Amino acid sequence: MGKSDSAGTTTGDRLGRKIGVGSLLFERYKILSLLGEGGNGQVFRARDEKEKKEIALKTLLDLEDVQLARFKQEGEILQTLRHPNIPEIYHCQVSKNYAFIAMELVEGIPLATLHKEKYPLALQTVRTVIRQCALALDHAHQKGIVHRDVKPANIIVITDSGNERIKLVDFGIARMDYSANPEGRRISLTGDIFGTPYYMSPEQIEAMAVDSRSDVYSLGCVFYELLTGSPPFVGSSPFETAAFHLNEKPLNLKEASLGATFTPDLEQLILKMLEKSPDKRPQSMQEFVEALDQLPNLSDLPTSSETLVPDLNPEQNQEQEVDRSDSRQRLHPLIATSTTLLYLAVIVLLLILAISAVMSQ
Ligand SMILES: Nc1ncnc2c1ncn2[C@@H]1O[C@H](COP(=O)(O)OP(=O)(O)O)[C@@H](O)[C@H]1O
Ligand SMILES: [Mg+2]
Repeated sequence: MGKSDSAGTTTGDRLGRKIGVGSLLFERYKILSLLGEGGNGQVFRARDEKEKKEIALKTLLDLEDVQLARFKQEGEILQTLRHPNIPEIYHCQVSKNYAFIAMELVEGIPLATLHKEKYPLALQTVRTVIRQCALALDHAHQKGIVHRDVKPANIIVITDSGNERIKLVDFGIARMDYSANPEGRRISLTGDIFGTPYYMSPEQIEAMAVDSRSDVYSLGCVFYELLTGSPPFVGSSPFETAAFHLNEKPLNLKEASLGATFTPDLEQLILKMLEKSPDKRPQSMQEFVEALDQLPNLSDLPTSSETLVPDLNPEQNQEQEVDRSDSRQRLHPLIATSTTLLYLAVIVLLLILAISAVMSQ
């Protein structure tokens, strides 16, 4: 998963105890391995000794109140969601002493890993993954919940005898939709900026009011990446990536994938999801799914998985290296080659002129 199982992992919980493989937490959950970790805490595979089944246990590592509040909110949000593409929450507890969410264990691999290892994924897989994410998000949106961190690391893909299913995780930074919940608006207007720049909507970057159409944009970024190899905007720093989201137009799919052909309808739909103005995007996940379902045939994907996939680790995007190029810069080798050839031609021409000048003397 996000981080491979590591038997040696130990870390302090809110009580200062060590959480390591073999620990028994809350006199009930036996820690089996580390499944993943990110901004909000760690997720363990654990055995619920009471229910006699394996679960995923998300724990809070940090003592700061703001994180505790966010964690509490995540549990509350998740408990209101019931959808086949969202893990079921069994138990959520936050108190002065500890914080955890016990939830359905999803046996699968993060889309980020799958994409990195298997790009290009079969078109049918891309369609299934994106469609199921949209349905999960639609369910959340119907309840006034905006995910706000839709990205491949938060989409777990389960492969059951060739049929993919996904579960969308990590509602940790979700907020109530402003229009549906004025209280949520107040909380969100504190100006906190969360999320991963590769998938952040322009309005998130500008810390403006964010509604469900922000998730449409982020899902558009994921869709674009699955088809072309890279998210639409990859700057040399998080700031540059953010600036691209605000100001740049994405390359068309053919350019971005270095030559794969895509149907104009598909191109149009993805570019519509990536509109800077929320008003110009599909206005709901339902609208998006309807449009997707009307596309009979998505594209001819690239046949080889050349090195189009940059080594992006979405969970560590804050440490983007300077040499990670803008997706547009992936065209540079071609441009560089033609420029070199032009220089060579000019040099040869000058040499010929010089030689003929010498000969004629
Ligand atoms: N229910 C689950 N079942 C299995 N693995 C999970 C589950 N929830 C999360 N994970 C794994 O743990 C990682 C981190 O979980 P996530 O909820 O995204 O936390 P964070 O807020 O730290 O990013 C995920 O990317 C995924 O690999
Ligand atoms: Mg996450």
